[in-house]
Formats: sequence, structure tokens, C-alpha cells
Amino acid sequence: MIRSSTVRVKGYCLNGLGFHKLDRPAPTYNRKDRRLTHVQQTVAVLSLKGGVGKTTVALGLASAAMRRGIRTLVVDLDPQCNATATLDPEDSKATLTDVLADPQPSVVRDAIARSSWDGDLVDVLVGSEDAESHNVPDPSLNRLNRLATALDALPEIIDEEDDPYQLVLLDCPPSLGQLTRSALVAADRALLVTEPTMFAVSGVQRAFEAVQTERKNNEELQPLGVVVNRVRPRSHEHQFRISELREIFGPLVMPVALPDRLAVQQAQGACMPIHAWGTPGAREVSLAFNLMLARVLRAGRGRQDRPRSDSFEEEYA
Ligand SMILES: Nc1ncnc2c1ncn2[C@@H]1O[C@H](COP(=O)(O)OP(=O)(O)O)[C@@H](O)[C@H]1O
Ligand SMILES: [Mg+2]
Repeated sequence: MIRSSTVRVKGYCLNGLGFHKLDRPAPTYNRKDRRLTHVQQTVAVLSLKGGVGKTTVALGLASAAMRRGIRTLVVDLDPQCNATATLDPEDSKATLTDVLADPQPSVVRDAIARSSWDGDLVDVLVGSEDAESHNVPDPSLNRLNRLATALDALPEIIDEEDDPYQLVLLDCPPSLGQLTRSALVAADRALLVTEPTMFAVSGVQRAFEAVQTERKNNEELQPLGVVVNRVRPRSHEHQFRISELREIFGPLVMPVALPDRLAVQQAQGACMPIHAWGTPGAREVSLAFNLMLARVLRAGRGRQDRPRSDSFEEEYA
């Protein structure tokens, strides 16, 4: 099936070549050009702590990308496989464990499955409990590079009728072993997730240090920002912790925080994208993910030297 990949948003049009004001004609291109010119943006979602919302952020961004017609691959690096469970893909012949043992294109192809959210737009590189065997504490450079090698093969392994992936989201486990470090070696950007609690600052600081350290193996890697999750706006404690984070990390703290809403758990439990859940709480969280995705894409457009609108985030809201 050939799908239109053009999206219109309040006076702007998004296609594979970026955003364009509707009063100006958007550049057109054919499928072959798109394969040649397209740039894949790879974002690692990490924290050094479990249960703070890494998977929720990866899935929320995938949901926002799906709503905008952006083809996305979620790579489930966590042996707990929560992202895989929520995306509920069809059976695959291989998993992440096989890819990390042998990252050749045929194995990568076998480990990618279409999600139940939208078989055209959101795919999963399927996680596995056995991936823990690849989470060695002091991996060799060869081991660290395997995920990057696998993801480099993506443009050549996708089916002829499919668009290339524009966004690749790496959902990391909560430790700094081989799996998270492989994600940092493979990514262009690192998105750090935290809750607004007492240990948030030290946790984010350690995660930043991990990103900086991994730059010796991946010069392209840049921190994209800090996402503050599960915020209760009326909690003084939360407001205090957020201002503490802003004092230390400045504009790297995302201007939009994710509120604590039951809808997040409900949508995940029902294996549905948050944008399809439809309650007021889900709409609130979805809007936050739309804004976050705009920032993620804007960082990618900077990399690709594309024209941008400074007011896009407000336009999109
Ligand atoms: N903003 C939120 N509001 C309500 N529940 C949330 C929110 N973010 C995460 N959760 C819930 O918290 C739990 C842990 O989140 P998860 O994304 O799996 O964390 P991690 O991947 O960092 O271990 C999940 O049950 C998830 O549904
Ligand atoms: Mg997780």
C-alpha cells in the first residue's frame, strides 16, 4: 500500500523534506529520491533509574509521530520488554538478542515486526529477556558498535513499498551496561527522563556524564534534553525539584513536562497509543508529547540544515 506522507498542521505542511508554509509550494520528490536524501534521526531515551518513564516517553513520541504520519521504529533494548508488549507486534523470526549477536542486515530484518498500533507507521525491533546476556558491564568496542551497525542497515532492508524510517527511538534499560551504552553509540541524540523527586538532580547529572563519556565512541551524540515526568503541578515538592533541575541544566530541561495521569497506564495496559485513548487526561499527555516531538524533530532538522520556523512549537500547540 502506498501511503501519503504529507501532513498539514495549522498553516504548515510536513513531508519528508521538512516543514513548509502552505502559501509556498512544498518541494516534491519521488520515492527513489526520498531513499537517497532522507535522514534517519536516532534518539536514545534513557535514565539510570527504573520506573521513571523511559518506555512511556519512547511510546508517547512514537504515538505523536504516528499521528503526524512519521514512520518510526522503536528498538526495545530493555530485557523487561515493556515497549514490545505495549506495541504488541506480530511474531518475528528473530529478536534484539540475535541482532546483538550478529548485526547483519538479514538478522535485523527478521527482528523487526509491524506493531499493532499502525502496521504502516510504527515498527518494533523486538525485545527479548535473553538480551540481558548482552548487558555485560565492560563491553569491548566491537560489542558496543553492534547496534549502530544494525541500525545503519535500516535504509537497505526496508521493503520496496515502505517509506524509510524518519525516527528511531531506542528504549533503554535502567543500567549503564552494554545495552544502554550501545544505544548511546548508535544515537544522534540522548533524551534523559527523570521524575521531580529528591534524587532527580544527581540521577540526571550521572546520566549526562554517561552521555559525555560515550562521545569518545560517538562524536555525533548530543544531549537533547531532560524530560520531567509524572509531574503534579500542585505539588510544592515537584515545583521545587523542577526549579532545581532548571537551575542546573538550564534550557536543557524540556519546557513541557509530562503530567501524572492514569490514562498513561490505562493506554499502555490496553496496548494503545496515548493519542487514541481519548480521555481528558490522555489528551493532556498527548499534547505534551506533540510539543516534545516538535523539539525532537527540530533538533534533527538543525542537523540536516533544513529551514525551520521558530514559532513552530506554538503553531503546533
Ligand atoms: N506520566 C505518567 N502518568 C502516570 N503513570 C505513568 C506516567 N509515566 C509513567 N507512568 C507509569 O509508571 C510505570 C513506569 O513507567 P515506565 O515508562 O515503564 O518506566 P521505565 O521505562 O523508566 O522503567 C508504568 O506503569 C507507567 O505506566
Ligand atoms: Mg522501560
